[in-house]
Amino acid sequence: MEYTTLGATGTRVSQLCFGTWRFGRETGGVVETDREEAHELLDTAYEHGINFIDTANVYGTPNGTSEAYIGDWLESYHREDVVLASKVYFPFDGRGEPGPNDQGLGRKHIRAQIEGTLDRLGTDYLDIYYIHRWDESTPIEETLATLNDLVREGTVHYLGASTMASWQLTKALWKSDVGDYARFDVTQPLFHAGYRDDVKAYLDVCADQDIAVCPYSPLAGGFLTGKYERVDADDPTKFEGPEGSRGTLSDRFEDFYLSERGWHVLEEIRAVAEELDATPAQVALRWLMEQPDITCVPIVGARTPEQLEENVGAVDLSLSDAQFNRIVDARYAEDGERWGHRE
Ligand SMILES: NC(=O)c1ccc[n+]([C@@H]2O[C@H](COP(=O)([O-])OP(=O)(O)OC[C@H]3O[C@@H](n4cnc5c(N)ncnc54)[C@H](OP(=O)(O)O)[C@@H]3O)[C@@H](O)[C@H]2O)c1
Repeated sequence: MEYTTLGATGTRVSQLCFGTWRFGRETGGVVETDREEAHELLDTAYEHGINFIDTANVYGTPNGTSEAYIGDWLESYHREDVVLASKVYFPFDGRGEPGPNDQGLGRKHIRAQIEGTLDRLGTDYLDIYYIHRWDESTPIEETLATLNDLVREGTVHYLGASTMASWQLTKALWKSDVGDYARFDVTQPLFHAGYRDDVKAYLDVCADQDIAVCPYSPLAGGFLTGKYERVDADDPTKFEGPEGSRGTLSDRFEDFYLSERGWHVLEEIRAVAEELDATPAQVALRWLMEQPDITCVPIVGARTPEQLEENVGAVDLSLSDAQFNRIVDARYAEDGERWGHRE
């Protein structure tokens, strides 16, 4: 494994982060990754040198289960050897039906959630604390002041921001600057080679401000592994896939991950993979890791140790400029129009 400095922070992380969204999560009555499987996956990640783990207070059924699985696992390891990230924002059902203050980015909810998160993880600090989404109903100054206190107290080392528009990120950075608050040093956007939207403006902000980018769903939930086949030339959301895979379990899969652009990009990724004697998953991950001008650390998810081992193979791969750009070009139609949504 190779390690990289996370943007402008002083923290070194593996080139891949391991995501634990599906730990203890029930989908269609099935627990996707139970405690034993979760610990096996974390062992595999650790054995391959992955020192960066991503979770959130709301992961798992009920919420908090993912953090609890990680906390149990950490008891057999040294806390200092792991870089831990968690998040806050969404309604939290870990204590039962969420009340009016069990959500959002107000001081009361953040204060309550950080306590629960640290408790479940069995640690007294987080390396990175993300806001999971932008909160329309709380002034960003209140959120930043609260997060700043956590940093000053040593409860949180760095702040992160997930899933927001580039203007929101820019506004938050400006408010941190003028208010002398700790700023967002790490971002977590949905971004993968087949993503239908363009994230260039967002990535430009991160490059300019030396903010690390940790893309989530870097394989489009498994779509870019090439295990799904298109079954309707006119409709990019129609597919077939292996039974029990996320595509067949989750009814949101096609809305989240499938687009005309995605299928075109997958075709090119498959061709590059063949040239490199690699797998499509490895090429898709490597394409993210080689993004110019930013530190880009994909957050990989995996259901099995074998999947994770395959994904770790991306670390040893290298794309030529031509191969990298062929995947970029596949994001656009021949006449220059985008395959995906209008921006
Ligand atoms: N900030 C946010 O709002 C947000 C949102 C989503 C995710 N995240 C973070 O990002 C992490 C990763 O997201 P993700 O799980 O969607 O990532 P992903 O890597 O795009 O998808 C992972 C899924 O793809 C399949 N897969 C992975 N590697 C494979 C391989 N080599 N061969 C075949 N199938 C493979 C597995 O599903 P199956 O085997 O079940 O098909 C696996 O669960 C999450 O765990 C979480 O930490 C953050």
